[in-house]
Amino acid sequence: MLRFLFISLLLLGSASAQAFAGPVSISSPDGALVVTLDDSSGMLTYSVNRNGAPVIEASKMGFRFRKAPAFEKGLKISDVATLAYDETWEQPWGERQFVRNHYNELKAEVRETGTAARSLMVTFRVYDDGLGFRYEAESGVFGEVELMDELTEFAFAEPATAWWIKSREFNRYEYIYQETPLQEVSIAHTPITMRTRSGLHISLHEAALLDYAGMSLLHKKGQRFEADLVPWSDGVKVKFSGTFKTPWRTLQVSEKATGLLDSNLILNLNDPNKLGDVSWVEPGKYVGIWWGMHLALNTWGSGPKHGATTAETMKYIDFASKYGFKGVLVEGWNEGWDGDWFNNWNLMNFTKAYPDFDFEKLAEYAKEKGVRIIGHHETSGGVTNYESQMEAAFDLYEKMGVRQVKTGYVADAGEIAREEGDKTFFEWHDGQYMARHHEKVLIEAAKRKISINAHEPIKDTGLRRTYPNWISREGARGMEYNAWGSPPNPPSHTATIPFTRMLSGPMDFTPGIFDLLYEKEQPDNRVQTTLAKQLALYVVLYSPIQMAADLPENYEARIAPFQFIRDVPTDWAESKALTGEIGEHATFARKERGGEDWFLGAVTNEEARTHTVKLDFLDEGRVYEAQIYRDGDDADWDTNPYAMVIETRQVSAADSLLLKLAAGGGVAIRFKALNN
Ligand code: NOJ
Ligand code: CA
Repeated sequence: MLRFLFISLLLLGSASAQAFAGPVSISSPDGALVVTLDDSSGMLTYSVNRNGAPVIEASKMGFRFRKAPAFEKGLKISDVATLAYDETWEQPWGERQFVRNHYNELKAEVRETGTAARSLMVTFRVYDDGLGFRYEAESGVFGEVELMDELTEFAFAEPATAWWIKSREFNRYEYIYQETPLQEVSIAHTPITMRTRSGLHISLHEAALLDYAGMSLLHKKGQRFEADLVPWSDGVKVKFSGTFKTPWRTLQVSEKATGLLDSNLILNLNDPNKLGDVSWVEPGKYVGIWWGMHLALNTWGSGPKHGATTAETMKYIDFASKYGFKGVLVEGWNEGWDGDWFNNWNLMNFTKAYPDFDFEKLAEYAKEKGVRIIGHHETSGGVTNYESQMEAAFDLYEKMGVRQVKTGYVADAGEIAREEGDKTFFEWHDGQYMARHHEKVLIEAAKRKISINAHEPIKDTGLRRTYPNWISREGARGMEYNAWGSPPNPPSHTATIPFTRMLSGPMDFTPGIFDLLYEKEQPDNRVQTTLAKQLALYVVLYSPIQMAADLPENYEARIAPFQFIRDVPTDWAESKALTGEIGEHATFARKERGGEDWFLGAVTNEEARTHTVKLDFLDEGRVYEAQIYRDGDDADWDTNPYAMVIETRQVSAADSLLLKLAAGGGVAIRFKALNN
């Protein structure tokens, strides 16, 4: 395999406080983005310009603590060092194999002028497509401290339209994105994405959220916002002893909406792989005992409709093996689901199977058939209960040949239950307690070569680079909302999340529902897409693991379109966004890793539309058979969702294709490389 990993480092300069006066600046490698750090008022502020025009106006930085003075006033930049960095690194799996990490860095020591004289490091990394900054305190400077407020502001220079979901709400990240003027954002989860009046696309998020509280964006005044850290149940935002390091606060900036889709900024700001050899992390497709429960055909708990029986699991193993799926997810095999499991946080037993589930026999059967059982840990938000059983639970899975575990943090009783003695405290899903918990889970799982797919998770901040066994997660409204959500996901949902939630990383959306109406099971709900759009989601919504979420019989009833799900890979050598407008449409082309084929997926919202796309992403000089799965000419998600045409054409990089998408529709294409 061709490898072209290289690193180039260039020290741009270093200066002590006496050597400069006033603000210090650093620009992106292409010179367009400029960040300026200023201490002239005695407060620390930063601002961002792009091609000379302000993007972020002077915005405050600093901290307030519980028992120590604030780090806010009387501040001076006492030392500065800059660096130019250019490296290309390889991902074990991902939407592309090689990632270029190219930035200019400014590291500033910020010191108090008073007698306390504490100091912090502030680091900015400026890329052509955005920037990140973080604060770091050396051991001993702040001691045992309870952080009450991070003062970081984001004063957006221009009015903008924002796509966002409200934070500090009971249902975590599972809301339909709102589109409002930026000024109407109250408190938002990140990523929050906006388009400014002059047409610039900006997405604000964070990278490398480890042992710290998640950040929400809180409205202050006009276009000015501030970082609002998710508190512990006692009101403290972050507890730390000795050293202290914030996640990177990130801004992705692009003229075109598609520029956000192609950005690697979040990944680049995370530390490299800590786990060493991760060849045991297995991307791939899976099926499972799942949708039946969401349609209320089956139950997680015991009884006549119990889904996870030995016989039913064997049926799924047979189906997976026949059609080439690697994994079979089994939910509801373990005791604890009887009764009100989503309102009780300590019912779950993670090692004891229901009597009608013969785990050893099934592990053996799966092995014979060349598939793996995918484990499931629904914690019901009971994290103390889970942590007390976690090691034994992973040991059991390791013994049974399980390589992936889907975890779940449904917490309808009121957030995450943390028990201390006979007291129970309720913690947010995205506070420091859960940031710590998720890291613990990853480390325990990795010891047993297990990968984690967390549902109701903390948000993604690119930690898959550091822990490549964090293979996917939920963290937005997924397919399940179409079964029982009120309302279900509107057609615009999957044209919005590529530009918002998915900028943070892979999502286990669980696409591929073929019985779109399920009139018998859930007459009030349905999937609001065409059938072709269900196929397109496999390419558009990136995840290294993708579920074929429907019941086996619904695939066997529509075997021709099912072929696309069988063919589509989940691990890519390269990905390119071809079209995109937030909430309207998105088109991706991706080349399979370890193969020659390209795939294309395009989705639209409620509007029918056409795109002419150049096929110049295809490999030069090759001929491909384009296997096209498109909306029929009279398709419409509402009135005619199944109308679909499957056709083939010979194409090359010199050609263009006209994509016709129905209202709520999509198109999926495999470009099969022909031997030539
Ligand atoms: C919510 C998850 O998103 C879903 O996939 C799962 O089936 C249920 N919780 C039960 O764990
Ligand atoms: Ca969920």
